[in-house]
Amino acid sequence: MDVIVETNPQTASQAGTDLLATLIRRKPTLKAVLATGNTPMDMYSRLAALKNAGKIDAGQMTVFQLDAYLDVPDTDPRSLYGWMDRSFIQPMDIPATQVHRFRETSDDPHGDCVRYADTIRASGGFDLAVLGLGPNGHLGFNEPPSAADATTRVVTLTPESIISNAVYWGGIARVPKVSVTVGMDALLASSQIILIATGAHKHDILRRTVEGPVTPDVPSSFLQTAAKVTIITDRAAWEGDR
Ligand code: PGA
Repeated sequence: MDVIVETNPQTASQAGTDLLATLIRRKPTLKAVLATGNTPMDMYSRLAALKNAGKIDAGQMTVFQLDAYLDVPDTDPRSLYGWMDRSFIQPMDIPATQVHRFRETSDDPHGDCVRYADTIRASGGFDLAVLGLGPNGHLGFNEPPSAADATTRVVTLTPESIISNAVYWGGIARVPKVSVTVGMDALLASSQIILIATGAHKHDILRRTVEGPVTPDVPSSFLQTAAKVTIITDRAAWEGDR
């Protein structure tokens, strides 16, 4: 694992932007699965600024949705696809034909997950996974316990995730309880993984991620076993409140 410890969330976002820009320039046809969540948003904005300045072209990239709440349509402000669309796909001008996604409303979510996993496999897997770090160590919605071979599937959110997501949706009651996620298997097989985690509230889970036992109880601890992982963090998350 490489760890980049920046001074603050803004410099961490810039470090992530520089790395993403390098990877896109090196392989314009990059196939990437990308997280929503608050942490990567500044990084995506900075990347879009580079694109608007003509310094990067992401038009050949393929983007895969990482996770979704079930039965939340695109028009709902809680839709994770809608969030990804507004924060990355549109600003980066990714053609719709190069975007793969979950069906967020479906009669057959289990079958959809199998088909989505097939799509990922048929495309040859991910060159890059950009991930946030949940307070319980989830990657996407791979809630604990999730083993390294957990597949792309329907997941019931843990109470901890429901509580932490309540800030986005204006209260616990409004947080959807069931989600779908790209599996640990596909994420860990990604050629490269960037995990971005900033802020003192991520300190404990970040330590458990990088130096704790590798266990399904902390899904992010499996990053210790993945091929190429870069953790981008800040001092508050890395060192804790000192
Ligand atoms: P956050 O979410 O970036 O909003 O902290 C991370 C996550 O829950 O995966």
